[in-house]
Amino acid sequence: MGEVTPVRLRPMNLADVGPVMALETALFPEDAWSQYALLSELAEPGRHYVVAESDGEVVGYAGLRAAAPEGDVQTMAVDERLWGSGVGSALLTALLEEARRRGITRMFLDVRADNPRAQKLYTGFGFVRVGVRDGYYNGTDAITMLRVDEAGGSGHKEDR
Ligand SMILES: CC(C)(COP(=O)(O)OP(=O)(O)OC[C@H]1O[C@@H](n2cnc3c(N)ncnc32)[C@H](O)[C@@H]1OP(=O)(O)O)[C@@H](O)C(=O)NCCC(=O)NCCS
Repeated sequence: MGEVTPVRLRPMNLADVGPVMALETALFPEDAWSQYALLSELAEPGRHYVVAESDGEVVGYAGLRAAAPEGDVQTMAVDERLWGSGVGSALLTALLEEARRRGITRMFLDVRADNPRAQKLYTGFGFVRVGVRDGYYNGTDAITMLRVDEAGGSGHKEDR
């Protein structure tokens, strides 16, 4: 087995937009955000975007929209070469921790109906399916998922 390079998470900044867009267009071939959309998100209040970095290279990213007591996972993606090695879980954990700090008790997300890998990840974190948006992604359905954090809201509870 090769050496495992540690992955660290940190807030996304403007210098990350290029590498993040490269991942975005590769990983969402049918419905990638434009660079303008990403920059607009970063400029919005109530957002928290993080990147995962390995050996100085951006290998994943995720974004939270916070409007306590509700929040949304806006996006999440990991370099395909690292799929299955826990980076997606680390990113989602970071968003959920930040959400709790911001008093969010109800986290929503939309995921493509034809994306079982991501759905499995979200289900593992306690998200449950609450609805379907017909044809939301260029004709493909979106499944809306919700995670209720019963213990959250105060920001003082210990992380699970
Ligand atoms: C979805 C995605 C972010 C997951 O990232 P990842 O780094 O592979 O995630 P992890 O390694 O933490 O794995 C998390 C879970 O994914 C699922 N998973 C991982 N590898 C898998 C595989 N080979 N087959 C099926 N499911 C798998 C498992 O449920 C896993 O949990 P487990 O390790 O407890 O079994 C990544 O596949 C990705 O970027 N996909 C393309 C973009 C995308 O779909 N983003 C989500 C949009 S809503």
